[in-house]
Amino acid sequence: MKEVRVSLVGFGNVGRATASVLLKKSRFFEDRYGVKINVVSISDTSGTVWLPEGIDLMEALLVKETFGKLSAWTNDYEVYELTPGDVVREVDAEVVVDVTNDKEAWKWHLAALKEGKSVVTSNKPPLAYHYRELIGEAEKRGVLYLFEATVMAGTPIVGLLRENLLGDDVQSIEAVLNATTTFILTQMERGLSFEEALAKAQKLGIAERDPSGDVLGIDAGYKATILHCLAFHPITYDEIRVRGIAEVTEGEIERAKTKGKTIRLVARVEKGRVAVEPAEIPRESPLAVESHENAAVIRTDLLGELVIKGAGAGLKETASGVVSDIIKAGLRAV
Ligand code: HSE
Repeated sequence: MKEVRVSLVGFGNVGRATASVLLKKSRFFEDRYGVKINVVSISDTSGTVWLPEGIDLMEALLVKETFGKLSAWTNDYEVYELTPGDVVREVDAEVVVDVTNDKEAWKWHLAALKEGKSVVTSNKPPLAYHYRELIGEAEKRGVLYLFEATVMAGTPIVGLLRENLLGDDVQSIEAVLNATTTFILTQMERGLSFEEALAKAQKLGIAERDPSGDVLGIDAGYKATILHCLAFHPITYDEIRVRGIAEVTEGEIERAKTKGKTIRLVARVEKGRVAVEPAEIPRESPLAVESHENAAVIRTDLLGELVIKGAGAGLKETASGVVSDIIKAGLRAV
């Protein structure tokens, strides 16, 4: 059995969901792909657990769940004080997985690629600001830089634009890319105020503890920037126009409703032009998603209109994208 060694950086909700899938489906991955995925280091903000033979993921999950931090794990395992940059340099691994929110992570992504390691990330800012540099370095080193979970969680819009449609000219993408804002707008349609809807989203764990990135459109903006990089050419988040849902009034929601429409935070992506803003859309439009769904309408010269729709948030849904990329990177490495 071939083995792929993985450094997992980040052990919050997405990191734990990823470890959990790797644990539960390890036999399935071994039978299907002939590859054993061996997590040799796991880092959270308290420290890094590193074992070259491979970490028992069940125990790691238990320690984190029980004590809230990896550094509480004292028997059998050493806990090291390593920055992600140190992990990249010191831990022997073929694949580095970033499931953090580290805005400066592009620096250690770049370092990992320079070390000849493939990188898998669910973290958006590195791509929204450094796409050209990161993809260029990966190509130069002959390793993979994979980011399926950055847009629409595990719903494979990144793979679709990156690996398929290679003969098509994409003309435009229109998409709803943020679940929190969809939830808030739907609740407002049902009569809640913006504040009440936001509080409910936080209580249900849909919105982040600091939901400003979602509400102000920054999260959707990062995702739209990444789609532009994939479909057209690299740009950065600074070049796009973003307006969130903070100013959408109850009156606007009502007016849309009487016209048979609904308001969603819509990203419009065309060559050299990206805008994210609240927009009225017909109820029967594929973009009139509910709950944690995302949707995108991609228009191309050869295919015409293509719709991709599915989960855009959620833990196992995000782990779907991360794990798929780990397997892809692993198959390339062995
Ligand atoms: N906070 C995001 C959303 C999920 O609400 O869509 C992660 O991308």
